[in-house]
Parts: sequence; structure tokens; C-alpha cells
Amino acid sequence: MKISKAVYVASKVSAAGRPSPSRREFAFIGRSNVGKSSLINCLTGNSSLAHTSSKPGKTQCINYFLINDSWYLVDLPGYGFAKLSKERRATLAGMISDYIDNSSDLVLLFVLLDSRHDLMKIDLDFLISLGEKGVPFAIVLTKCDKLGTNALAARIEKMKAAIGEYWEPLPHFFATSSEKGTGKEEMLDYMGQILKDLDNNNQ
Ligand code: GTP
Ligand code: MG
Repeated sequence: MKISKAVYVASKVSAAGRPSPSRREFAFIGRSNVGKSSLINCLTGNSSLAHTSSKPGKTQCINYFLINDSWYLVDLPGYGFAKLSKERRATLAGMISDYIDNSSDLVLLFVLLDSRHDLMKIDLDFLISLGEKGVPFAIVLTKCDKLGTNALAARIEKMKAAIGEYWEPLPHFFATSSEKGTGKEEMLDYMGQILKDLDNNNQ
């Protein structure tokens, strides 16, 4: 699939504020600073579309980007940033669960994990909560440019083993680098196929 048009539409603090008319959504979630906004920029080929920062806690709203005049990419705040005030963290956590619980047009959640680390408890807990809610998700390893080929392959195997203890079959895995564009075509094709299947099922 090609993205020929990507437009920022709105920043909201709850799913109820979603832009109208509602459209299919693919959303990006993960720990603060894992690379959600950068991945949206990479996928759309527009480095200034979503705001990114080297400091965690940059995205603090639900940001909707209209793709090809047809569906949304949604940039969510990160979870687990210890340096935010307790109140702010609670607000962001509430925003994330509100989005997940109340977005009936959410097609798939991409859960981003930093390829430099083993699976963390906070990520596993989040994945388990998705499983309990029956939210479809795929795993995206980010910042793969920061690892050598062997280290990356070992990390992917380790992540799959850790997640495989809870999921059978394993969710779809993508290894990406927003710096290098690694994994971009695979993710776009995956989304394109899902949208096509949904269109076919609706006919
Ligand atoms: P929050 O909005 O704070 O939750 O963060 P985020 O998950 O949206 O992360 P963001 O895209 O702002 O990126 C955080 C930092 O990681 C920035 O300094 C990015 O340049 C860097 N980064 C993101 N993706 C990659 C990548 O693929 N490779 C490398 N080397 N750096 C990356
Ligand atoms: Mg962000």
C-alpha cells in the first residue's frame, strides 16, 4: 500500500472527541519515547507530521492523522514515563484506556517495543490487558538500527519466546527503524491487506 496523502486532523483527550465522520483507525502505543510519533512520520514519509522529541512525554493527546482521505493513523501518548507528575500519568493512562475501550473503529493497535531491551513488565502487563479486552494488536520492535544483525535476531527470538508464553499463535511481529525506513513497506502492506479484507467482507 502507498500513502499518497497524510493530513493532521485533530488532537483530542478522549475517544468521544474523535473526528467526524468516524473512519477506520490504526493506532500506535508503547512506552514513552519508544518511537511512536517517529514511526508515523516514517510510514507517511513526512518527518514533521507527528511531533517527536528526544525527551519522553512529548505526545500527550490522541492525535488523528487522515490517510489517503480514507482512514486514520492515531498517535497516542506513551505509558510509563516516571518523571511526569502522578496526576498527569494517571490522566494519560486514563486517556489511553478510554481510547482503547471506546474506539469502535479501531482496526489494530501497534504495540511498540524498544528493540534494545528485553520485554519489560510494564509492556507485558499492557499486552495482557489487551488480551483480556480482546483488542487485536501487532508487535513493532523499534530503533532496530541501534542493534547489529546478530543482536537484533537474538532480541527478536527472545521477545517472541517471552510473548509466546502468553500468546498462541504469536501476534504479528515487525522489526523497524524509523531512521532507516526498515519495516515500513511490510507495515504498510499489512495495513493495506487488512483494509482490503474489511472492504471485501463488507460487500
Ligand atoms: P512520546 O510521545 O514521548 O511517548 O514518545 P514517542 O514514542 O512518540 O517517541 P518519538 O517518536 O518522539 O521518538 C523518541 C526519540 O527516539 C526521538 O529522539 C527519536 O528521534 C528517536 N527515535 C525514534 N525512532 C527511532 C529509530 O527508529 N531509530 C533511532 N535511532 N532513533 C529513533
Ligand atoms: Mg509521541
